[in-house]
Amino acid sequence: MCGIVGYVGSEPAAPLLLEGLGRLEHRGYDSAGVAVLSSGKGLKVAKKAGRVRDLEAALPKRFNGKTGIGHTRWATHGPANDVNAHPHTDAKGQVAVVHNGIIDNASALRSELADQGIDLASDTDTEVIAHLIAASDAETLEGRVSQALARIEGTYGLAVLHADFPDRIVVARNGSPLIIGVGDKEMHVASDMAALVRYTTTVVHLADGEMATLTAHGYTTYREDLSATDRVAKKMDIDPTAYDAGEHESYMHKEMLEQGEAVERTLRGRLDERFGTSHLGGLNMDARDLRAIKRVKILGCGSAYYVGQMGAMLIEELARVPADAEAASEFRYRNPIIEPDTLYVAVSQSGETVDTLLAAQEIRRKGGRVIGLVNVVGSALAQECGAGIYLHAGPEVAVASTKALTTMYVGFSLLALQLGRVRDLSIADGKRLVEGLKDLPRQIEEVLALEPTLVEVARRLASAESLFFIGRVRGYPVAREGAQKFKEVSYRHAEAYQTSELKHGPLALIDKTVPTVAIVPDDELADRNVASLHEIAARGGPLVVITHPGVDLGEIRDHVVRIDVPRNERELDPILMTIPLQMLAYQAAAQLGRDIDKPRNLAKSVTVE
Ligand code: F6R
Repeated sequence: MCGIVGYVGSEPAAPLLLEGLGRLEHRGYDSAGVAVLSSGKGLKVAKKAGRVRDLEAALPKRFNGKTGIGHTRWATHGPANDVNAHPHTDAKGQVAVVHNGIIDNASALRSELADQGIDLASDTDTEVIAHLIAASDAETLEGRVSQALARIEGTYGLAVLHADFPDRIVVARNGSPLIIGVGDKEMHVASDMAALVRYTTTVVHLADGEMATLTAHGYTTYREDLSATDRVAKKMDIDPTAYDAGEHESYMHKEMLEQGEAVERTLRGRLDERFGTSHLGGLNMDARDLRAIKRVKILGCGSAYYVGQMGAMLIEELARVPADAEAASEFRYRNPIIEPDTLYVAVSQSGETVDTLLAAQEIRRKGGRVIGLVNVVGSALAQECGAGIYLHAGPEVAVASTKALTTMYVGFSLLALQLGRVRDLSIADGKRLVEGLKDLPRQIEEVLALEPTLVEVARRLASAESLFFIGRVRGYPVAREGAQKFKEVSYRHAEAYQTSELKHGPLALIDKTVPTVAIVPDDELADRNVASLHEIAARGGPLVVITHPGVDLGEIRDHVVRIDVPRNERELDPILMTIPLQMLAYQAAAQLGRDIDKPRNLAKSVTVE
């Protein structure tokens, strides 16, 4: 969704801003814009619907200035066009604002400004901020922005330029991320590390309610009432090349192939072989706290929710604590009961998904204990929860999540192991799972090596208009995630079902044109699963079966492809069974010529409700 960049230093700002915006393209957007300032020459703004390269082509020749801000917009208030693109300015063109988030009282503020005779050029909520700043009588830019923010309700990450203050950018954060990048005699700001890493990895994560002023010589941070805060810049342990696709044809492909190393990082230093358990220092909970938990509730959106379902089953199985997962986007709208002895887990790759963030805030507001299972360090959700498990999957750029989801399941396994081992999970079972987790990186490589054999299967699936993905118990969320990945990148209709529910309705749809991808691990349900496959085969339905070596599919001979994944401990089956589904989705999308890293209508971080 929307992205922000900003630069102040000794270089021409526009090329740096465009480069930064290019690095935010993966987030999803429909228009882009930049504004630059130079002393004596005032403010210049250029904005355009379409891609960053369209903006670049439309940029006037003399677009000079060493202070600037830029934005990629994902339309919320008003259609995607040149006028609604950011930056937005006041009537005199003195103030420029870029903004991520939503101003809840925008329509009241718009009418108030209209009553004062101010013409609003755009349909956006953001434009009101520019007019409010222009109307302020404070002497400093900081004071003007602070006065404007006092009138605003909603969420924002924003950056402001003012023609009277050409040496600075003022930024503010409330619910939408902003990261300051500290350079050598230059400062950067962005809503995502991806736009900063080329220039610096020394950063300051602003907290909600915090503002900052950036000049070429440094930064100061303060609260919205202008009282000082003392944020110290930290050097992040990030490999800048991790944000490049390198030789891969897409980020999704690169990130799928990185899953073994990502899992190694998630596990590093967290397994205790002696006691068959895990160490999760970030939970800030001792054994007594963990034993006091009576229930676990997992909240996430989209694929993170499906992995949450896998995690809930695992926690229930290993720790014998009732656990379930719910879509965070629904949870807080039903006035949920928050229980003091429930552990709430908010799971998110980006840590920015607003529904997950707001669910966590609602739980905390009601006095509940919520931990985060998050990939992006310093993200809004990580800050909100204050405790939890970082995934260390590395940056995930492709919209379709792969390695982050795999590490989420590993994170849940570590949590389940610890919760189990302070209860009744035996040391022998604990050790068995520790060994299983240690085997995963190698086994993931084995599964990834299957890719060439999946090309033809994917071609057949891609030729169908509609597909089923089926599984039972721990295989069902795997099927849900498989269907999600397939529809997201291939645009084919893919529906997930519990295998056991097929004959209660959807079997009516099965014929030779509707393939079914079935999850059939070698577990206590294998025979029942195979019986359901026979029912599909008997109706001519083509089958792709993700299974284990040795599982006997019986007499099904025609129109069936089996994909065997290595065995691990059965509790960890979801991980190795999900990866072929990612590869099938990827290969199908590639053969259909889809824009795999930027599927239509989707954004990497869903920062609106
Ligand atoms: C699917 C996908 C989305 C995300 C969902 C939550 O491939 O990427 O369904 O899983 O939008 O995003 P995060 O994990 O960032 O909260």
